[in-house]
Amino acid sequence: HPPLRVAVLGCGVVGTEVVRRLVTEGDELAARVGARLELVGVAVRSLDTERDPVVDRALLTTDAESLVEKADVVVELMGGIEPARTLLLRAVAHGASAVTANKALLAQEGPALYDAVDAAGVDLYFEAAVAGAIPIVRPVRESLAGDTVQRVLGIVNGTTNYVLDQMTTTGQGLAEAVADAQDLGYAEADPTADVEGYDAAAKAAILASLAFHTRVALDDVDRTGITGLTADDVTWAGRTGHVLKLLAVAERATDAAGREGVLVRVQPTLVPSGHPLAGVRQAFNAVFVEAEAAGELMFYGRGAGGSPTASAVLGDLVSVARHRVLGGKGPVESSHADLPVLDGGEARSRY
Ligand code: NDP
Ligand code: HSE
Repeated sequence: HPPLRVAVLGCGVVGTEVVRRLVTEGDELAARVGARLELVGVAVRSLDTERDPVVDRALLTTDAESLVEKADVVVELMGGIEPARTLLLRAVAHGASAVTANKALLAQEGPALYDAVDAAGVDLYFEAAVAGAIPIVRPVRESLAGDTVQRVLGIVNGTTNYVLDQMTTTGQGLAEAVADAQDLGYAEADPTADVEGYDAAAKAAILASLAFHTRVALDDVDRTGITGLTADDVTWAGRTGHVLKLLAVAERATDAAGREGVLVRVQPTLVPSGHPLAGVRQAFNAVFVEAEAAGELMFYGRGAGGSPTASAVLGDLVSVARHRVLGGKGPVESSHADLPVLDGGEARSRY
C-alpha cells in the first residue's frame, strides 16, 4: 500500500510526543498499519519557538490550512475551538480521516463534526480526549453498546487530582501545585479550564453522550471547580474518613413528571476512603462504570502528560490508517479505481 500522508496540527506537550513516535517507530507502525505513515508537516503558531530536536524544522509550517489538504490523516493537537474546528472540517471535506485529543472542541462542536465525518465517509477518533492514555471511549462506545449503563463516576482531570492529592498528602497550596502540574505537562494551556472544572465537564459531556446514547453538551453539565476549596476542607475530609476528589458523575434520572433523562455534574466530592476512586493518586485518572449486565467496571491509568496521551493518539492513528489500508473508510473517489469490474464492463459503467 502506498504511504499514508499524516499531518500533525500542534507541536506542544502532546504533539511533540506524537511526532517522536512517528519518527522513531516508523518501521513498527508501518508493519501494524500495512503502510508507512509519512509525516508531511507539523503546524505550529510560531516558527521561532525552540523545539525538541526530534522535530525536523523543515516540516514545520504556520500554514495549517494548506497542510490539511495534503494529508490522508490529520491529527489535531492544537487545542481550543478555532482554528481547530475549521481545520478539521476542511480536512474531512478533502477526504482525510481525523484524530483529535480536543475534548473542548468535541463537547462544543461534536454533532457538526460527526455529521461532516459521516457525509465524507471518513473516520474521526478521539480516544485521547477523555482520560488521556486510558482506553475508555471505545469501551463505552463499543464494548458496552449492548448493555445499559446506569452511572459513570470519573476522576477525569489529572491536574486537579494532582493538586488535591498534593494538598492532602504534603499540605502544598493550590497555586503552587497548579504550577507544578503545568511544569509536568498535565495542565491545559490556560489552567483555568482545569481548576474551574471546564476540562472535566467537557470530558463528562463526551462520556455521558456515549454511555447514554444521547447528546449531552458542555452547557448541560452542572459544574463546580476546586478553587473554592481550602486546606481546612481537605483536612476535614481526611478526619471524616473521606478523600476529596473532583468527581464527574453522569447518571440516569427521572424527573417529577416521570420523564427519563441523564444528569451530569462535576464537583468536589467526599469519596469514602474505601471506594476504589479514593486511591487514585497524583495525576492518575479513573472511570468507574456501573452497567446493568456487566456490573461494576473500573478503568484506571495516566490521564495526562505528553507520552501517555500520545499513546492514545497513536492507537487512534493506527486504527484510522488501517481502515484506509483495508478500505473500510476513506475518500470515496480513491476507492473507485480499485473496484472489480464485472465481465462486459457493466459494473464500471455505474460509476
Ligand atoms: P500545548 O499548548 O502544549 O500545544 C499546543 C500546540 O498547538 C503548540 O505547538 C502551538 O504552537 C500549536 N497551536 C496552537 N494554536 C495554534 C494555531 N492557531 N495555529 C497553529 N498551531 C497552533 O497543548 P497540549 O499538547 O498540552 O494539548 C494539545 C491538545 O491535547 C489539547 O486539545 C489538549 O486539551 C489535549 N490533551 C492534552 C493533554 C495533556 O496532558 N497535555 C492530555 C489529553 C489531551 P506553538 O508551539 O507555536 O505555540
Ligand atoms: N489538562 C488535562 C488534565 C489534560 O489535567 O487532565 C488531560 O486531558
